[in-house]
Amino acid sequence: MPTHDTSFPLDFLWGAATASYQIEGAAHEDGRGESVWDRFCATPGKVRNGDSGERACDFYHRYPDDVKLMRELGLDAFRFSIAWPRILPSGRGPINEAGLDFYDRLVDELLAHDIEPFATLFHWDTPQALEDAGGWTSRETAKAFTEYTEAVVRRLGDRVRHWITHNEPWVHAWIGHSWGHHAPGRTSETDAVAAAHHLLLSHGWAVEVIRAATPDAQVGIAPNLAHAYPASDTPEDEAAAWQVDGEGNRWFLDPLFRGTYPADLLERNEMVAPLVEDGDLATIAAPLDFLGVNNYFRFVVSAGADGPRMERVEESQHTDMGWEVFPDGLHQLLVRVSRDYSPPAIYVTENGAAFGDVRVHDGHVHDPERTAYLESHIAAVSRAIGDGAPVKGYFVWSLLDNFEWAFGYSKRFGIVYVDYPTLERVPKDSFYWYRDFIATRAQTPRASRMAAG
Ligand code: FCB
Repeated sequence: MPTHDTSFPLDFLWGAATASYQIEGAAHEDGRGESVWDRFCATPGKVRNGDSGERACDFYHRYPDDVKLMRELGLDAFRFSIAWPRILPSGRGPINEAGLDFYDRLVDELLAHDIEPFATLFHWDTPQALEDAGGWTSRETAKAFTEYTEAVVRRLGDRVRHWITHNEPWVHAWIGHSWGHHAPGRTSETDAVAAAHHLLLSHGWAVEVIRAATPDAQVGIAPNLAHAYPASDTPEDEAAAWQVDGEGNRWFLDPLFRGTYPADLLERNEMVAPLVEDGDLATIAAPLDFLGVNNYFRFVVSAGADGPRMERVEESQHTDMGWEVFPDGLHQLLVRVSRDYSPPAIYVTENGAAFGDVRVHDGHVHDPERTAYLESHIAAVSRAIGDGAPVKGYFVWSLLDNFEWAFGYSKRFGIVYVDYPTLERVPKDSFYWYRDFIATRAQTPRASRMAAG
């Protein structure tokens, strides 16, 4: 355990992350409207085993016990998302106060246990009514998002001090609108490019709304980012890696921090140009208080005949998602993002691993690979801080095993095991490792102060 390194600032936040549709359940309760994920899950063949978030972890009812677990873990911060269809069941129009009441109770419960709420406004559960009217391919959805943001911030802004507008706009735009593997299940690249622009635009508008309502709030966004390594040092592979970096990382970071789309992505630029209205890029580039970084793996890229090809490094360890375990990718990523974009602060808003956990005869869940993953990635964060990256916190994905989108319940990312038939929570060994790690970090300054004084 790295008890002696001092690279984590004393006010570094240790957290865990979740998302509404993946944990809440209570899909029909208290006036919640239909989301694109409800519709997608109900469409045969879309989600493994026909699973859905209808019940999920039932966090909606069990959150007081889950907050107790967070306290036992010693969390400083909890990242959750707000379900838009609970607040505005048809996306726009009358506010459903009962939906807001749930988050009101959750925030109070967190604060009562001394846990800082990090609220994400959008983690992919668009109200179905908006999708029916064009969804994120339409500028109207970006306008609707600002109305929704206003309703949420007006209610929670007196207590929530950290806001994340969007989770992983690349994933939602591409996997949801071009590949069709996520809700809303569209399969058009044009739709994906439009969705990406409108997500970014709505981010900028939401920042304005949050700043106006709560001037002291810290505002950021949490894109998925991954460092792209060329498979060799040939100019072809290097160009292929740069292209992958452009499509996944710079496509979002450049507009957010520089107010431009990357000039080298010509085809994409041609597709996005007709969508960009005067002032959009200035709106998107509104100064942020922090950048959230969601990271799980790196890319290794070679130049294939039809464009960049992702290589699998056979000798590496891979998680149950088939994702390569490569902690230095996180280190490189944090250093590079800091150097190229100078965000005032960074939170690692998601990082973690799925493994095929089982509860064994002693009633416990032994997950040494997850502990090793967390330990090595936290060490990578520490190295990045040593190299000047302004990282202020780390959120493990995820607190609980949960609904992993198109994989349903087949992938377990939690540091707490969820026994789905009974919904019983069983902290895994990695939970106890993280608890002890956080406790050591928290005690070190106090102990050294006492020793000094
Ligand atoms: C990210 C998502 C999160 C979870 C993890 C494993 O892409 O933001 O909801 O599914 O991956």
